[in-house]
Amino acid sequence: MAVPYQHLTIEKKEQVRTMFNNIAPRYDLLNNVLSAGIDKVWRKNAIAELQKSKPKKILDVATGTADFAIAALQINPESIVGIDISANMLQFGQEKINRLNLQNKIELKEADSENLPFAENSFDACTVAFGVRNFGNLQKGLTEINRVLDKGGILIVLEFSQPTNKIFAAFYSFYFKNILPMIGKLIAKDFSAYKYLYESVQEFPFGKAFEAELTKAGFSSTTAIPQTMGICTIYKAIK
Ligand SMILES: C[S@@+](CC[C@H](N)C(=O)[O-])C[C@H]1O[C@@H](n2cnc3c(N)ncnc32)[C@H](O)[C@@H]1O
Repeated sequence: MAVPYQHLTIEKKEQVRTMFNNIAPRYDLLNNVLSAGIDKVWRKNAIAELQKSKPKKILDVATGTADFAIAALQINPESIVGIDISANMLQFGQEKINRLNLQNKIELKEADSENLPFAENSFDACTVAFGVRNFGNLQKGLTEINRVLDKGGILIVLEFSQPTNKIFAAFYSFYFKNILPMIGKLIAKDFSAYKYLYESVQEFPFGKAFEAELTKAGFSSTTAIPQTMGICTIYKAIK
């Protein structure tokens, strides 16, 4: 299993928490640099899918610095709760929310996707942007999300996947494996974090395989919508 720091013996979840606590001050900057802003298009497309079900109460799992939660406000929900295991990521998210005066709309909480501090059927939509790949136990996280989602509620997942066009995949793989960790080292001073990004994407289920994970966790009507030649995929599923 890919983990951020191979020399450490602590479990994946703790390594992931440590890694995001380390890179939190540079996370937003790196996101913009490494994706050349294209992640904003993916987020916009994911939110357009979310909008179709007009949710009022949204849970944003693995909310990080709250970018996805903030972007989701454009569909005018009553409230959004964002949870994350990294206190530092949440701190940067909270500062952003305060700056934008959104405290009455978005609430952030430190919590684990595998043990959500909410009752059954609490939300009519759940979102996870670039989070599921980092879960310590994917099935446990997806099953927990299913539990807190209301019947008929929608789950939107945005996650890296693997391009299917062989020529494009070769170029992309070179950038992802060799260039990206160097940029990560320069900006975030953490080469391992961006080496882990490449390795974790290589082993993570995508397309039909991820849809099968959603079905196993209790979801139905699953759909996968590849973005930008399959670099990333939006998944939709209903409880
Ligand atoms: C790549 S960041 C994505 C942040 C944000 N959703 C975004 O789109 O920018 C992944 C986030 O998942 C969080 N995370 C990883 N495992 C988690 C878990 N088990 N429960 C909650 N959050 C988790 C990390 O702390 C990190 O903030």
